[in-house]
Amino acid sequence: MNRHNNNSSFTTTAGDTTMQSALIKKTLGMATMLAASFLAQHSFAQSANCSYSISNEWNTGATGAITITNTSTTAINGWNIGWQYTTNRLSSSWNATVSGSNPYAATNLAWNGTIQPGQSVSFGFQVDKRGGSAERPTVTGSICGGSVSSTPASSSAPASSARSSSSPIALSSSASSRSVASSSIASSPASGQQCNWYGTLYPLCVTTQSGWGYENNKSCISRTTCTSQPAPYGVVGGGSSVASSIALSSSSAPSSVAPSSSSIGSSIGSSVASSIAPSSSSIRSSSSVASSAASLSLKALADFPIGVAVRAGSEANSVLGSSQQQSVLFQHFDQLTAENIMKMSYMHPSETTFSFANADALVDFARQNGLSVHAHALIWHEDYQVPNFMKSYSGDFPAMLKTHVQTIAAHFSGKVASWDVVNEAIAENSDGNAVNGFRNSVFYQKMGVNFIDQAFIWANEADPVADLYYNDFNTETNDAKTTRMLNLVDGLKARGVPIDGVGFQMHVLPDWPSIANIEASFRAVAQRGLKVKITELDVRVNNKYNSSAPVYTSLTTAAAAAQAERYRQIVAAYLRAVPAAQRGGITVWGTWDAQSWFASDPDWPLLFDNNFQPKPALQGFANGLTGQ
Ligand code: XIL
Repeated sequence: MNRHNNNSSFTTTAGDTTMQSALIKKTLGMATMLAASFLAQHSFAQSANCSYSISNEWNTGATGAITITNTSTTAINGWNIGWQYTTNRLSSSWNATVSGSNPYAATNLAWNGTIQPGQSVSFGFQVDKRGGSAERPTVTGSICGGSVSSTPASSSAPASSARSSSSPIALSSSASSRSVASSSIASSPASGQQCNWYGTLYPLCVTTQSGWGYENNKSCISRTTCTSQPAPYGVVGGGSSVASSIALSSSSAPSSVAPSSSSIGSSIGSSVASSIAPSSSSIRSSSSVASSAASLSLKALADFPIGVAVRAGSEANSVLGSSQQQSVLFQHFDQLTAENIMKMSYMHPSETTFSFANADALVDFARQNGLSVHAHALIWHEDYQVPNFMKSYSGDFPAMLKTHVQTIAAHFSGKVASWDVVNEAIAENSDGNAVNGFRNSVFYQKMGVNFIDQAFIWANEADPVADLYYNDFNTETNDAKTTRMLNLVDGLKARGVPIDGVGFQMHVLPDWPSIANIEASFRAVAQRGLKVKITELDVRVNNKYNSSAPVYTSLTTAAAAAQAERYRQIVAAYLRAVPAAQRGGITVWGTWDAQSWFASDPDWPLLFDNNFQPKPALQGFANGLTGQ
C-alpha cells in the first residue's frame, strides 16, 4: 500500500464507468455531443493510471508530482496529459514540457516518453496556492481518460507561469528516482512506517542496518539513518496519515525543504520511477534500454547509486549555475561527489577555521533534487590538499586530526550517504619513499598506520550512519598494490575498525588494467564482505605510458567505439563480481569531457562530449548495466 499516494493524490483510472454511463444517459443536444466526444477520447487507448500527488506544502505553495503508470500490456510511446486548477496556478515544472496557463498540458521529454507495461513515469511541479489550499485536480488525457486542453501560453500568462524542464528551480525531491512509488513500499516494514528524508518519503529498509539500502531493487533508508535527521523529519506513519505528517507548514519546514527563490536546480531526476525494477533481478530488463541516447537514463537501469563528480563553490563550471550540466545530471545520475570542494584544505584551511558554506550549498542542492552525496575526502596525502597548518603541526597531532575528522563528519552527518575517509594511503609499486608499503605522508609519519584506524573510528563516532570507505587508485590492478590494499582492509577488520567498503578510483587507461584483473580485484574485496564502489571512473583513449599505443589527437570514431566497449566491460565486471547488496555504486569523474582532469593531456575520458552530447561511451555504460 502506498499511504502517501492514497492520502494525497487523486487518481483517474482507465475505464471510469460511472462517468461513462452518466454521460450516456444524457440525450439532448450539446450534452449528447459532449458525451460522444468524451467517449471517443475516453475509449481511445485508455491505458494508464494517472495520479496527481502533493509531496510538500507550505503557506503559499506546494510541490508534487504527476505519475503515469502504464496499466496496459503494451508500451506507451509518448504521452500528453492535462489538468486544471480552481485557484492554484503552476509556478514551475520539471521533467516534462508543460504548456498553457490553466488548464495546463504536459508532454514527455525525449528520455521519459516510453513507459513499459507496469512501469511509471513521474514529473514534478510547484504551485502557487494563491490563497487556497493545495488542490488535487483530476489528470486527464487520452491515455488516462478525458481530453487534454490548455489555454495558449499568451501574453496574459502570469510571470510565474510554468517553466520548461530546463528552467532553474529549487525544490524538494518527491519525484526522484528514489521517490515512493506504489510498489517501492515493498521494502518498508509491515508497520507501514516510512522515512521522511528532508521532506521526501522513502521506504524504510527491512534488513539494512545503517545508511541507504537497495533491498528488493528498491531504494530504502535504514531506520537508524532515518532517525538521525533533525526534527521534524524521521520515521513517520504506521497508524497516522503519512501524508499529513509530511505536509510541513512554513513554520516547521526548514528552508532546505520549502522551495526557495534561489535558482539552483532545474529538475528532479525523476525518470522512470524505481517501481519499474523487477523484484527478482538486480538489473533492469534490457528491453527498457531505449535505442536512442536521448531516451537513456543510466540511473533507471541500476539499483545502486550512479554518481558523478561535480564542481561547485568558486570553481569554474560550478554545477549550481549550469543548466546544461544539471540537465545531464538529473537525467542520468542519482548521486554526486564534490570533485574538489569537500577536500581537506577547502573545508579546514586553518586550525581554527572550518569552511562549510560551499559544501553546504552543494549538499543542499543535492538534497533538494533527490540526489544522494558521496563525500570526498576526510584525509588525503596530496600535498596541495593538506592544509599548511597540518604540514608543520607541532602540537598533539592525533588530537588535531581527530578534531578535523569529527568536526567535518559531524557537520554532514545525516546529509551524506558515504565518505571516503582515507584516500590514497597505500604506496605505489614504484614508490621509493614507501614505508611498510604505505605512502610516507605526514599522517603516516606522525601516527603510522594508526592514522587510518583512528580516522575510521573517529568518523564512525561522528557519523554512525554514513558508509565509510577506504579509497585508492591502481588498486584494481590485481597486483602488489591490490595485495597491500587487501592486507590493509584485513588488518582493519581484524582490529574491529568500522570500515564499510573500498572505493576503487578507476582512472583507467584504454588497455590497462585488464578486465580480468579489474574483476578479480573487485571480487577480492567483495569476498571480504565489504562494499565495493567505483568512485572516480574515467576511461582515457590515449595510453601515454605505452609508446606503441595509438595516439589520438581528437576523439575519432574508432577511439570512441573502443572507449564505449571499455566502459561496457568495466560495468559488466562490476556486476559480475559484486553481489547486489554490496554495490556501493559507480561514479564517473565528471560530466563532460571538458571537465575532465585529463582534458589537457589531451584526452576525452567521460560520457558526454565538449558540447554535452552523449558519446558512445554512455551507451556502453548502459549496455554494461543491462547485460548487453
Ligand atoms: C582531482 C580533480 O579532478 C582535479 O580537479 C584537481 O585539480 C585534483 O584532484 N584522485 C582523487 C581525486 O581522489 O580527488 C582527484 O581529483 C583525482 C585523483
